[in-house]
Amino acid sequence: MNSGLERLVYESRATGSTGSLVNLATILAESQRNNDRDGLTGALAAHNERYVQVIEGRPASLDNLLRRLQSDPRHCELHIIDREPIRERLFDGWSMASARITPAQGDALDHLKQRGELTAQQTIRILLDALNPPAAN
Ligand SMILES: Cc1cc2nc3c(=O)[nH]c(=O)nc-3n(C[C@H](O)[C@H](O)[C@H](O)COP(=O)(O)O)c2cc1C
Repeated sequence: MNSGLERLVYESRATGSTGSLVNLATILAESQRNNDRDGLTGALAAHNERYVQVIEGRPASLDNLLRRLQSDPRHCELHIIDREPIRERLFDGWSMASARITPAQGDALDHLKQRGELTAQQTIRILLDALNPPAAN
């Protein structure tokens, strides 16, 4: 069945410091407000001065957001890893989750990217793992 939804996965280079919690908190607050309005869901992670983001929703809403993202001076070199129709959302309930990736997960992302092997699937897996870490015992 066609859900009419698409998922966009991209990565970009931060122009400010991704280490600044203030920058990230500001971006997340804007994102959550707008995405609630626009029916978009997803997750955002910052690591080593780069962002990776997954966004799900109606194609027209994704197009509008992509235009805004491409002209946002807070990042550059926006590279779309994948955009494709989906049957259902993976990030349902998250207007924009803050995926706090560990240094090891960040290194894994960097490694895959350097080898030209960073796929949407791997990116999504790392973001989901960061949101649902294994329970500590
Ligand atoms: C890394 C990054 C991720 C962003 N993610 C979103 C997002 O998911 N949704 C959104 O509306 N804006 C997002 N933004 C902000 C947009 O680029 C843009 O500034 C904002 O949508 C404009 O909102 P306004 O029209 O309410 O001022 C993001 C910006 C950056 C740098």
